Amino acid sequence: MSDFTENMRAKAKSRNYKVAFPDSEDLRTLKTAEFLINNKIAQPVLVGNIDNINKLAQENSVNLNGIEIINPIQSPLIEKFADMLYEKRKAKGMTLEQAIETVKNPLYFAGFLLETDVVKVVVGGNVSSTGDVIRAAIFSVGVAEGISIVSSYFIMVLPERMLCFADCAVNPDPTDVQLADIAISSARNFRAVTGEDPKIAMLSFSTKGSATHPHVDKVIQATNYVREKAPDLLVDGEMQADAALIPSIGERKCKGSPVAGKANVLIFPDLDAGNIGYKLTERLAGAEAVGPIVQGLKKPYCDLSRGCSVDDMINVTAICSLMA
Ligand SMILES: CC(C)(COP(=O)(O)OP(=O)(O)OC[C@H]1O[C@@H](n2cnc3c(N)ncnc32)[C@H](O)[C@@H]1OP(=O)(O)O)[C@@H](O)C(=O)NCCC(=O)NCCS
Repeated sequence: MSDFTENMRAKAKSRNYKVAFPDSEDLRTLKTAEFLINNKIAQPVLVGNIDNINKLAQENSVNLNGIEIINPIQSPLIEKFADMLYEKRKAKGMTLEQAIETVKNPLYFAGFLLETDVVKVVVGGNVSSTGDVIRAAIFSVGVAEGISIVSSYFIMVLPERMLCFADCAVNPDPTDVQLADIAISSARNFRAVTGEDPKIAMLSFSTKGSATHPHVDKVIQATNYVREKAPDLLVDGEMQADAALIPSIGERKCKGSPVAGKANVLIFPDLDAGNIGYKLTERLAGAEAVGPIVQGLKKPYCDLSRGCSVDDMINVTAICSLMA
C-alpha cells in the first residue's frame, strides 16, 4: 500500500462516515464492509436483499455483525423516495408508478439515502455499469451548484509525486464549457483529497499556438473559461504533456507560466486521450491508479470499475469520505 492510500484511510477513519453500498450482493462488497467496520474507517450500510447478503456472508465466513442491511422493498422510506424522484423527473415524463419501481433499485435507493443525509457517501459500480450508476446519481443527488457536468478523476500515485488525471471515464467528448468544469471540479477535489495546491494543465497536442485546429481551439477556450469562472485556481494551456510535466521543457515552451513544468492536475481534451493516458501511465510508469472517482455531483456517489478489488473499494470509500 502506498503512503497516499494509507494516509487516505487514516483521514477517513477520523470521519468514520456512514457509506451505502448498492451493489451489495457481491463478496467483494461484504469483505470491504467487514474491513471498514473492523478498522473504523466507515460505517457500511448494505442495500439489497437481506437473505441473499446473509447467505453469501455465511458461505464465505464474512462477519457482518453490526453492519446495517436495508432491503429497499421492505423499507418504510420507499414512498418518500418515490415522491422525491417523481418531483425531480415528472417534467421529463416519469409517472409516480415508474418512480416507485425505480427507487426499488438499490442504486436509486442508495442515492436517496445520500440525498436525505442518511448516509454521507455511496460507493457502487462493482457490479452495475458506469451508465447505470451515473444516471442513478444524477437523478437522485443531482449535479453540483454551478457545475454543468458529472465527470471523473483518477489520483495517479507515482514514487515521487501524485497527479490528478481527468476525465478518464465518463464523458466521451466534452465541450469547452464542460471541459472547464471538469478542470474546476478536479482541482478542488485534488486539493480536498491530497491537501496539495492544484496547478491545472489543459492538455493538447499543441503548446501555446504551436498548432492550429478546432481541437486546439476547444482547449484554449476551456482554459479561458476556467480563468473567468475560478480566478482563484492556477491554470494554463493549451499545452502538451511534456510542457506540463518537465520543468526545462515547460520553461522553454511556456516561459513564465505558473503551471508549466510543475502541473499536478492534468485535464485531457476528450475521453480517448484521458482513458488511454491513465492506462499508459499505470502500465508503463507503474503508477497506482486510484479511481475513477465520480465528481461534479452535489454529494459523493462513486462508480467503481467492475474489475475492482477489495482494496480498491476500501481506497475509494476513504477518498469519497474526504470529498463529503
Ligand atoms: C453519463 C451517461 C450514463 C449518460 O448517458 P445517457 O443516459 O445515455 O445520457 P442522456 O443523454 O440520455 O442523458 C440522460 C440525462 O442525464 C443527463 N446527463 C447525461 N450525462 C451527464 C453528465 N455527464 N453530467 C450531468 N448530466 C448528465 C442529461 O442531461 C439527461 O438529463 P435530462 O433527462 O434531465 O435531460 C453516459 O455518458 C455514460 O454511460 N458514460 C460512461 C461512459 C463509459 O462507459 N465509461 C466507461 C469507460 S471507463
